[in-house]
Amino acid sequence: MQSVIDYLENETTKQTIIRMIGENLHLYQGINTEEKIQSLTGSLYNYLVMECVQNNQYISLSKQTIDALNALYRKLVQHLRRIPADDDVSLVEHIVAQHRVQLIAILRNNTYNKRQEQLFIPCAEYTGLFQYQLLHLDECVLKQPLLDVGCGRKHQLLSYLKEKGFSDLFGIDQYQSDETGILCSNWFEYHFLPSSWGTILAHMSFSNHFRRSLITGGPEDGLYRRKYQEILDSLFVGGCFIYTPAIKTVEATLDASKYSITYFVNLEDRNLDTVCIRKIRE
Ligand SMILES: C[S@@+](CC[C@H](N)C(=O)[O-])C[C@H]1O[C@@H](n2cnc3c(N)ncnc32)[C@H](O)[C@@H]1O
Repeated sequence: MQSVIDYLENETTKQTIIRMIGENLHLYQGINTEEKIQSLTGSLYNYLVMECVQNNQYISLSKQTIDALNALYRKLVQHLRRIPADDDVSLVEHIVAQHRVQLIAILRNNTYNKRQEQLFIPCAEYTGLFQYQLLHLDECVLKQPLLDVGCGRKHQLLSYLKEKGFSDLFGIDQYQSDETGILCSNWFEYHFLPSSWGTILAHMSFSNHFRRSLITGGPEDGLYRRKYQEILDSLFVGGCFIYTPAIKTVEATLDASKYSITYFVNLEDRNLDTVCIRKIRE
């Protein structure tokens, strides 16, 4: 989180925000309905999440942080729409300064990533076709309902599956979306109900973070282990958890009488295998 806070505290970032707001003052005055307020609040929130995960893809926001950020952006929108269009930016500067202090305080209080040092590990999103191929989904039986964990801002794999005729599709991510079935939630705080999913997918998301916590010995290791088991428990018999990258040390601990495991090779060094774990009995 420190790298994001450093970025936000940076003077250039501050001046960029002031300039962007100054250039769009006339637009904010048109924000005059609850729907428009909510829509701009959501866009600003998503813009921040994008900056966070592009700065460090392992940023993980708690529900408390997500709620506090939304309340803060809502307040910002309320302030912006009242600024006169001919303001000489002194009011904008004042509002931005206050907003940034509160924004940084919220991020500092975030439950996760407390120990993270200076890092620059940007996050990427991939096309639906690319994810479909890398997860080897044409070689697996995909039962519904289907959940994509860490589906990304544009939930491109779900859109691709929809085009292919699937309909009972859901996603979770830290980004907000107006799309039905896409929930804004941290995966640690989402409750995967027992025996409720036909397929759970995670492309370069949950297992990538889990694997990293094992390599770095991070404080979230235990959380990941419990959540991983909760995900498996949430499959109904015959359902699959399909993800990349595989985490061989973890899959090796699974009870072979309950789960059948298939690996798909993506790279010669086997560092980016996809794994399909099918639940064969409760
Ligand atoms: C590398 S992107 C991959 C997105 C998508 N699966 C794809 O392949 O295009 C990882 C995604 O995981 C999400 N993410 C990271 N930590 C998360 C968490 N703790 N809870 C929910 N989503 C998280 C990020 O917001 C980001 O959208």
